Amino acid sequence: MTRAVFPGSFDPVTNGHLDIVARAAAAFDEVVVAVLVNEAKRGVFSVADRIALIDASVAQLAVTNVRTQSFEGLLVDFCRTQEATVIVKGVRAPADVDYELAMASMNRALSGVDTVLLPTSPQWSFVSSSLVKEVARLGGDVSAFVPHQVDVSLRKRFAR
Ligand code: PNS
Repeated sequence: MTRAVFPGSFDPVTNGHLDIVARAAAAFDEVVVAVLVNEAKRGVFSVADRIALIDASVAQLAVTNVRTQSFEGLLVDFCRTQEATVIVKGVRAPADVDYELAMASMNRALSGVDTVLLPTSPQWSFVSSSLVKEVARLGGDVSAFVPHQVDVSLRKRFAR
């Protein structure tokens, strides 16, 4: 039984994240989507709202082996509490790989937990939570890049 953790801020979850969730769910027995609680960085959505949006979005996928949870502190400590042996990350571009390699090696050195990097499907290669928020904040249409529930929530949040 291999349990994988897919960590991130998910502020908010995007179609790119969901692509990784679906593929991780096919590759591993169980996937825990882990939402970072970062006291220093308040997001557009609360952690509870982010989790609700992830759950609603994952419910649209034909998967039963995915659950969502928040975590604080070190990712590898969370992996230990979850008895997860793999971290999954999506990578969109070489710059992502550079950044992820250092974290993957650090996490492995700290705990032995290995990281699997999945290349994001090309159609989502330019999609990020931060760009989606900026476009939505300025009144742009992001419905092609995020799950429906996220689009609705962004419109409410940034209603002019
Ligand atoms: O979606 P993000 O913001 O790019 O996700 C970053 C995340 C949550 C994966 C990363 O910040 C993280 O793992 N934070 C937990 C703290 C930690 O373990 N830091 C050491 C990493 S080597």
